[in-house]
Amino acid sequence: MADKGETSMELYLDTADLAEIRRLYELYPLDGVTTNPGILARTGGDPVKALRGIRDIIGPDALMFAQVIPSDAEGMVRDARAILKLLGDNTVVKVPAVPEGFRAIRLLSKQGVRTCGTVVYAPMQGFMAAKAGAEYVAPYVNRIDNLGYDGVGVSTQLHDMIAAHHLPAKVLAASFRNTQQVQDLCRHGIAAATCAPAVLEGLVKNPAVDGAVRDFADAFAGLAGEENGMAELVG
Ligand code: G3P
Repeated sequence: MADKGETSMELYLDTADLAEIRRLYELYPLDGVTTNPGILARTGGDPVKALRGIRDIIGPDALMFAQVIPSDAEGMVRDARAILKLLGDNTVVKVPAVPEGFRAIRLLSKQGVRTCGTVVYAPMQGFMAAKAGAEYVAPYVNRIDNLGYDGVGVSTQLHDMIAAHHLPAKVLAASFRNTQQVQDLCRHGIAAATCAPAVLEGLVKNPAVDGAVRDFADAFAGLAGEENGMAELVG
């Protein structure tokens, strides 16, 4: 069941690795970059510099996600303001979908700040963030799977619950380990997904396709000579 009025699934890169962002952003039709404190810690270095670096690469129009650090609502709101000051418009502030987070999401949405209720492990948790005013809610598919539950199922239930209650929130599925999880959600019409570089590339990686593309190049080289494409032949 596709979201009403939505176009294609939004696709984000879930990393703070600047070299990977630069490389993959050139190749894939991406809508922006998502980060969290764990991702920034894994990349290392100054987190402010890293976030600014991502914004410089993707430009002012792409959507960027950055997460608040404090555990109380007032602190979350302060962090949200700092994130917006650092990254400008087209930034979504990620707020953990916990009780203090629901309060922060309500306060921020009243101020017109775009938020994402994150670290969602259960449908009602995401529903609560959506009801508080979050524009996105992010279920952690693989982490749910690792607990012995069904990450794709939690995400599709949340998607359906939001649609059934006409909430404007979008499900931004996150924490993927394999392409099947992303594909199942894409098929269900999930609004958005964010993938680590390896998962993104895995979506289309196929040695049979590489072989077929090579065969076309070899066949044409036999006809027109190595390195000659249509541009060389037509002039
Ligand atoms: O965007 C959230 C995501 O980064 C969490 O993924 O890999 O830490 O389970 P992971």
